[in-house]
Amino acid sequence: MANKSHYEELIEKIHFHNYRYHVMDSPIISDAEFDKLLNELKRIEAEHPDWITADSPTRRAGAKPADRFDKVRHPAPILSLANAFGADDARAWLERVSKIDDRVEKAKFVVEPKIDGLSVVLHYRDGVFVQGATRGDGEVGEDITQNLRTIRAIPLKIPVSGKQSSVISVPKYLVIRGEAFMPVKEFEALNRKLEEAGEKTYQNPRNTAAGSLRQLDPELTASRPLTILVYQIVHAEGGKVPTSQWELLEYLKALGFPVTDIAKRFDDFEKAIAYTESWEKKRDELDYETDGMVIKIDDLTLAAELGFVGKDPRGAIAFKFPAREVTTTLNDIGVAVGRTGVLTPYAVLEPVEIGGVIVERATLHNFDYIAEKDIRVGDRVLVKRAGEVIPYVIGPVVDARRGKEKKYKPPTKCPACGQDVEHFEGEVAWYCVNAACPAQLVRNIEHYVSRGAMDIEGLGIKIVEQLIESGLVKDVADLYSLKRDQLLALEGFKDKKTDNLLTAIENSKGQSLARLIAALGIHGVGEVMAGDLAAAFPELEALSKSSAEELMQIEGLGPNIAESIVDWFARSSNQKLLKKLKAVGMWPKGGKSKVEGRMSNAFDGLTFVVTGTLPTFSRDDAKAFIESHGGKVTDSVSKKTSYLVLGENPGSKFDKAKSLGVKIIGEGDLKKLAK
Ligand code: IVH
Repeated sequence: MANKSHYEELIEKIHFHNYRYHVMDSPIISDAEFDKLLNELKRIEAEHPDWITADSPTRRAGAKPADRFDKVRHPAPILSLANAFGADDARAWLERVSKIDDRVEKAKFVVEPKIDGLSVVLHYRDGVFVQGATRGDGEVGEDITQNLRTIRAIPLKIPVSGKQSSVISVPKYLVIRGEAFMPVKEFEALNRKLEEAGEKTYQNPRNTAAGSLRQLDPELTASRPLTILVYQIVHAEGGKVPTSQWELLEYLKALGFPVTDIAKRFDDFEKAIAYTESWEKKRDELDYETDGMVIKIDDLTLAAELGFVGKDPRGAIAFKFPAREVTTTLNDIGVAVGRTGVLTPYAVLEPVEIGGVIVERATLHNFDYIAEKDIRVGDRVLVKRAGEVIPYVIGPVVDARRGKEKKYKPPTKCPACGQDVEHFEGEVAWYCVNAACPAQLVRNIEHYVSRGAMDIEGLGIKIVEQLIESGLVKDVADLYSLKRDQLLALEGFKDKKTDNLLTAIENSKGQSLARLIAALGIHGVGEVMAGDLAAAFPELEALSKSSAEELMQIEGLGPNIAESIVDWFARSSNQKLLKKLKAVGMWPKGGKSKVEGRMSNAFDGLTFVVTGTLPTFSRDDAKAFIESHGGKVTDSVSKKTSYLVLGENPGSKFDKAKSLGVKIIGEGDLKKLAK
């Protein structure tokens, strides 16, 4: 039985490790150990729901979707900043404010990055995060508390305990302002994932962060990798706070907030300008986008006394870097065939310099984007390069049209293999689904031989490329026709390597039908679905002739996947491939895997998701094991998932499970649970 002080200590501990990971970027325990603490907390909370505190780490997840956002009146106006374009503009600002108050001449200045994100306002009562809002019109914002809670860099309780500075006092009511953003690397990874899934990609990190925070469903916000840096105290009651910007940053940091680590204080304004300008060239080194630096008078009392011009305080100025947007001519639209066969259009541009880099290509995201923005070949287009983000076309300059621009029609054939392209319900992307498409061949073969599929050892990407280049392999079936002397003639192939490879290929003929189906790379058919298909159709022939209606009899198989399967088998190139596979003897029957029959009812009513590579079980084995104990295995994590079985190199399912608070176990735990 847990006692309450243990529960409270556990909360503090979790807050501290959360801080080490998400604010300091230097965790001191493993993810698994962290999950263990969190799972223990959840267990105690399930037993003692009356103990659950407002700052419990479990409250970062699980909030219900809202129908709308309530309005929040800010305790003080959330102000904006006047801009300075270049050093002279900044000097002119200093001169203006010096005339208003001669203390400015002796003032110190703090230089901070101007983060291109979304301004948010965080309210803490007695140190507990109670409300969070968007900036709105500066007077009234929207209540996005539940969404902000999911950002792990935002402390739910201050000061964050376990830090030396936890003795620091906190006003009874404290309102902080900061900038929420999506790190550039995370943004690019998110877009890559969306692109592969055939979904719409986002234009830039700022819009993505803003869109993610204005989601009515906090679960969606939780799945987005957002973070924050804070820089201002908007309001404080019942306690003292620093009156200098420099000390304020230190104070916020000591409380456990994430604060920029590139801020600097200067006595000399010229030095502040030089530091500001030095970041113009280095801006790509930051993990967020920035459009400039903010120069602030350090003495906050003096800054406040200088007053405002409209909504801009006189005590600070935004020193803007030149925008990295230019116009150029769109000479053509090209189409690239990606990893999963997805076709992605790109702009072929009249080469142009943007922020010191010559840009000749830019992304056009997807075909819908071209249509929505009415981008035509020959248009003058506005192109942006920001940070490390791949340059993208913002849109056409319609006024510059001369009538010769051509509307664009997406291709109906794959640019690499000439086969018809396909579109799947609910996705924006068009795909080439020809398994023998040269643009995808390397990746198809890589997938075919991978551990979860045919598991052919010794066929790394280099060798696959070598086999394709030499003309020996034009599809996966050709692997089975490789001859010893053909391989020995290739560079780097010696007796042992050749024999090992040929044996591994030959052995793959003993793999299950489920694995073969998964290896074919049919859109939407993963290992779990392949297992279900093999169970329902013990003959590949029968599966290849099945109708969408028949396929939909299988639990969890919806119309989109059914259509994708039917389409795949209907293609003559794929039929040819199947014939070849049969001819070479790669034609397993739907059999049972290592674990057979019903062993127990231990997992009755439980749903499992498996991710990553397990130590001894293959995916098929894990599935058969779970099912033989009465459990169900599904492909995606949801609130209904009872356990995530975690292996090495897990995918996004791991993050999703963490954010939903799904219990995470290893193969060993799975076996124990079954006993
Ligand atoms: S200070 C009175 N500091 O830039 C305080 N703003 O263009 C005014 N911003 O609305 C804001 N980083 O959303 C400040 N280090 C920083 C900032 C920052 C980004 C944003 C903020 C503001 C906008 C002004």
